[in-house]
Amino acid sequence: MGELHKPLMLTGLQPSGPLMIGNYIGALKDWAGLQATHASFLMIADLHAITFPQDPDVLRRRSFEFVALFAACGIDIGKSAIFMQSHVPAHTQLLWVLNCVTPMGDLQRMTQFKDKAGRRAMDVHVGLFDYPVLMAADILLYGADLVPVGDDQRQHMEFTRRMARKFNSAYGEVFKIPATYTPRTGARLMGLQDPAVKMSKSDPNPDNYVALLDPPEVIRRKIRAAVTDSGSEVRGDASKPGISNLLALYAAVSGERTESIEARYVGKGYAEFKNDLAERIIDFLDPIQKRYRSIEADRVLLNEILRQGADQARERSETTLARVYEAIGLVTGRQDDRRFYRPRGSTRRQSPDFPAPATARALHKRRNVMGTEETKDLSTTAAAETDADAECISDCCVCCCCDTEEECRMEE
Ligand code: TRP
Repeated sequence: MGELHKPLMLTGLQPSGPLMIGNYIGALKDWAGLQATHASFLMIADLHAITFPQDPDVLRRRSFEFVALFAACGIDIGKSAIFMQSHVPAHTQLLWVLNCVTPMGDLQRMTQFKDKAGRRAMDVHVGLFDYPVLMAADILLYGADLVPVGDDQRQHMEFTRRMARKFNSAYGEVFKIPATYTPRTGARLMGLQDPAVKMSKSDPNPDNYVALLDPPEVIRRKIRAAVTDSGSEVRGDASKPGISNLLALYAAVSGERTESIEARYVGKGYAEFKNDLAERIIDFLDPIQKRYRSIEADRVLLNEILRQGADQARERSETTLARVYEAIGLVTGRQDDRRFYRPRGSTRRQSPDFPAPATARALHKRRNVMGTEETKDLSTTAAAETDADAECISDCCVCCCCDTEEECRMEE
């Protein structure tokens, strides 16, 4: 992706149900548009999906389906990295760090948790409770400028921003504070069977949504069965949530204004309106379904998209994770970690809370041995030697047991 000079957008969708028309209208369409101005990291949030039980075979099949549908909906893999959240270990690594600075009370207040857990909060899984923290990790790892999310994720975004500020004030400026972006075009589509709840791919009743891959006869049936209101007038009105929702869907797939649709159906009944709506949806989804079919069969291509996406995501996220580890005082284990082997001539004394471990002494001697071709009997365990070998990569520094190079040489 040669796009990294642009502002960065990161977003994700959980493979917790089949991608449906609300996801296209409220998310994917906008993501495709934002690629022109933003470097894009688009994540399939499989680790979030398992906060509710998933059938393993379905989860795997759906994850590939998501990749192919992202591409079919206009995501350009030359411009965007598409990746599986589980392919990038930094997400769960940062999750842990953030867990250690997140008050329980903050998570208990999350409305989505309260809704999903219902009255059985003690029985739900820890992962569901921790969901917002993983989401914060997803976002903060990339230094995202923009995070497109639906309305229902606003509270999680606020939490993310709060966590970032709190971390920065405790440990220094590590995280960029991300902006929330709620899509412009996104009509908020409601359930076909229950217009009081948002249309959702995780709805246990598939008649509540039109999936992007629903065949025409299924779409006709679902629209025919969609809940309407009393009366027969096709008119958007707060007292007619069913028809208002179908009108919004009609407007979204046809690109027409609601008023002109209403005008066309004056004196006509719901049945004719619904028949036409179903045909409009079928026409709208047809090119997406055709593109999907041409991509979906090519497993090599799908794997390659995921491999490239994960490479880009790992590179970016690991840099942030290393800064976080550094900031909170974890020894990074990087080969150039100068806090363990200080540069030649450094006179800084070793930190008192960082005593030289036995392996470090072993390493010191071993390195001298390597330099002089002498074989010395190292009075250390084999395990310590193995550790030392793994870490001894250069002779340009002083070991942690000595303060200066001179002292270090005297020890030989
Ligand atoms: N929680 C989001 C949703 O259900 C999905 C998601 C997970 C996400 N991680 C994210 C969205 C990071 C944006 C950024 O819609």
